Amino acid sequence: QGHFTFDPGFMATAACESKITFIDGDKGVLLHRGYPIDQLAEKADYLEVCYLLLHGELPNAEQKDEFDKLVRNHTMLHDQVQRFYNGFRRDAHPMAVMCGVVGALSAFYHDGLDVENPKHREITAIRLVAKIPTIAAWSYKYTIGQPFMYPRNDLSYAENFLYMMFATPADVDYKVNPVLAKAMDRIFTLHADHEQNASTSTVRMAGSTGANPYACIAAGIAALWGPAHGGANEAVLKMLDEIGSVENVAEFMEKVKRKEVKLMGFGHRVYKNFDPRAKVMKQTCDEVLAALGINDPQLALAMELEKIALSDEYFIKRNLYPNVDFYSGIILKAIGIPTAMFTVIFALARTVGWISHWLEMHSAPYKIARPRQLYTGATQRDFVKVDQR
Ligand code: CMC
Repeated sequence: QGHFTFDPGFMATAACESKITFIDGDKGVLLHRGYPIDQLAEKADYLEVCYLLLHGELPNAEQKDEFDKLVRNHTMLHDQVQRFYNGFRRDAHPMAVMCGVVGALSAFYHDGLDVENPKHREITAIRLVAKIPTIAAWSYKYTIGQPFMYPRNDLSYAENFLYMMFATPADVDYKVNPVLAKAMDRIFTLHADHEQNASTSTVRMAGSTGANPYACIAAGIAALWGPAHGGANEAVLKMLDEIGSVENVAEFMEKVKRKEVKLMGFGHRVYKNFDPRAKVMKQTCDEVLAALGINDPQLALAMELEKIALSDEYFIKRNLYPNVDFYSGIILKAIGIPTAMFTVIFALARTVGWISHWLEMHSAPYKIARPRQLYTGATQRDFVKVDQR
């Protein structure tokens, strides 16, 4: 069968070299291009982080301005894309709509599809970063039957997303709450990249065949959807709903320990210590709830779960800590984002990470990703006609 390393789940396999993101899971360290995530979340805005991930360095003031303008230039969607939405059922999950619309973009944007051409790759990367908030917000508007709001390029990236989500043509003077815009920007930054996670590896794998970038990002969105990955933020809120109140926490924990259910928002393949993104997320969560004067019983429930889990032998022995998704759902809920949109927001924010990895892969020689297997099926045998079986 050949001499293959058997590594299901890629627990011990580095699939590529990368200069984008560094993680030390034992120490709880996450760096983008060398910069710690907490510094980026506090001091940079999301588009600066996008520039950093795409180009390798932080922009100076002039480069930042130019990049912002470039992104703003590409926020609109082709009119035919707007019609494409109408093919979906109104009760579709917005992630299903995202997979479909992003996967279809290559049918609308034919120019820029030569993956060997650096100029084409660059324009597609910008288009994706610029259009993904519009695609995401419209996925929501479509499912609630409201008219699509066109992007407003006088607003920041996060403000514009919230505007397209919540404004209607009737609110001409719709104002985005700056506290919410800041929290949204921070959520985008905290989700921007995370090295070779399942969805990014999917993007690289699809990209290694030479597939067009829109198809690759659609593959990433599909991989992100699962509850073990980006779908966890939605699953956390569902879990909190199911538990209901603090009195039921102990009983729920027993179910977790009997392995009947997982504590969603806990555990990580790489972090065997506190997820550094979760620390910033928790702080943002406190800020948002305080600023909005929200006293959310689900937050009290989440805090109780966290407290019990962090002091429980089961979790300690297995190094299970809250991950980024444990707190993001509570903030998104406070902002007014419906649960079905949580994973869409993760996808929106991660698009820049996916496309940065896709660009990195295409900037040097690469091989098609083609794992082997250990075959465990039948040995060779002769075909028997159907009437003799
Ligand atoms: N609740 C209860 N037990 C858990 C959990 C959890 N959330 N996560 C892991 N375990 C247990 C697991 O049963 C196993 O126990 P044992 O050693 O007795 O068999 C042990 O901990 C190791 O877990 P694993 O499943 O081997 O770990 P993994 O690296 O394969 O899986 C994970 C990582 C994130 C898929 C998993 O921890 C999980 O499903 N967590 C809940 C879903 C979640 O929050 N996902 C979001 C991840 S962060 C956002 C992102 O980047 O996508």
